[in-house]
Amino acid sequence: MISFENVSKKYNGGTPAVDSINFTVNKGEFLVLIGPSGSGKTTTLKMINRLIPLTTGTIYMNGKRISDYKIDELRWNIGYVLQQIALFPHMTIEENIAIVPELKQWNKEKIRNRVTELLDMVGLDPILYRNRRPDELSGGEQQRVGVVRALAADPEIILMDEPFSALDPISREKLQEDIIHLQRTIKKTIVFVTHDIQEALKLADRICLMKEGKIIQLGTPDELINEPANDFVRDFVGNAGHPGTDFDLEKFIHPLPNLTGQEAPTISIQATLAEVLERLSDHDSLSVEKNGVPIGIVNRQIMIDYLSQQVAKGGNSDE
Ligand SMILES: Nc1ncnc2c1ncn2[C@@H]1O[C@H](COP(=O)(O)OP(=O)(O)OP(=O)(O)O)[C@@H](O)[C@H]1O
Ligand SMILES: [Mg+2]
Repeated sequence: MISFENVSKKYNGGTPAVDSINFTVNKGEFLVLIGPSGSGKTTTLKMINRLIPLTTGTIYMNGKRISDYKIDELRWNIGYVLQQIALFPHMTIEENIAIVPELKQWNKEKIRNRVTELLDMVGLDPILYRNRRPDELSGGEQQRVGVVRALAADPEIILMDEPFSALDPISREKLQEDIIHLQRTIKKTIVFVTHDIQEALKLADRICLMKEGKIIQLGTPDELINEPANDFVRDFVGNAGHPGTDFDLEKFIHPLPNLTGQEAPTISIQATLAEVLERLSDHDSLSVEKNGVPIGIVNRQIMIDYLSQQVAKGGNSDE
C-alpha cells in the first residue's frame, strides 16, 4: 500500500531528519510511528502526502511513485490530521469538515448527512456545533473536529500526527476506541504518530520505533515487548509492556532504625521483586540503598504480607 525505499530527508543540508528508512504499510494496517521528540516521525508522515519533499529515495502508494500522482489525487485519497490543530478560523465547523467532500463535488445533502454522522461519532451534538467557529470550541473539541475532518471524504489512507494529545483521558480513550472500530470495520490504512507507548501498544498492528531519523525496530506490539532489538527498545517499552508487574521497592521500606553494631545486608532501591525475595530467603531484613546511601529497611514479613494480598487479588506478582 505505502512503501518507503531508502528514503532520507535533510532540511537545509544539515544532519538527516530521516535517514535512509525502508518500510511498508500494508493495506488495512494500523501502523504506529513512535520515538522521542525530534526522531523524524512528523517528517516521515508529511513526506507521504508530499507536504514535505524527500531528499533521496522513493515512496510508493499502491505501487506507483507518489511523485507520479497529481497532487490533488494524492491529497484527496489521504486524510491528514496535523500535529497542531489547524481548523480554518473563519469557517464554521461544518464548512471545515466539508472541505474535501466539497472539492470532490458531493451533493449538499450527502455532505450535510456526513457532517452530522461524523460530529455524532465524536460526541459533538451536530445541532449545537455545526455552525460554530473553531474559536468557540475548546482545544480538545477542535482536535476531535480535526480527526473527523480527515475521515470526511472516506480516504483510503489516514495519516494522524499525535491526534489525541490535547484530550482528557476519557475523551482520548473514547476516540481510541472509535478509531480501532473504524479501522476494523472499514479497513482503513492508518499511519499514526504518538509519543505514548501505551497508546501505541493499544492501537497498533505494528509499531515502528524511530530514533535520530532511523528505524530501530518495526514489529508487532508483542515483538517489541518480548523480543526488543536492543536496550533502547527495552527502555522505551519499559513497564508499559508488563502492566501489573512494575514493582517499586520504595513503597515497602521502613525508616532506618538505629542498628548500632548490626550490619544488615544491603540491596538497591532498583531491585526487582524477584531479587528482593531471593535475598530475603537468607536474611530477615535488608538495608535498602539509594545511590549508595541507606534509606530504610525492608523485612521478610512486609513482603509476605504484600504477596498474600497479591494472591488474594489474583494479581500477577512475578517480575
Ligand atoms: N522545517 C524544518 N527545518 C529544519 N529542520 C526541521 C524542520 N522540521 C523538522 N526539522 C528537524 O528535523 C528533525 C525531525 O523533526 P520531526 O518534526 O520529524 O520530529 P518528530 O519525531 O515529529 O518530533 P516531535 O515528537 O517533537 O513532534 C528534528 O531535528 C527537527 O528539528
Ligand atoms: Mg512531530
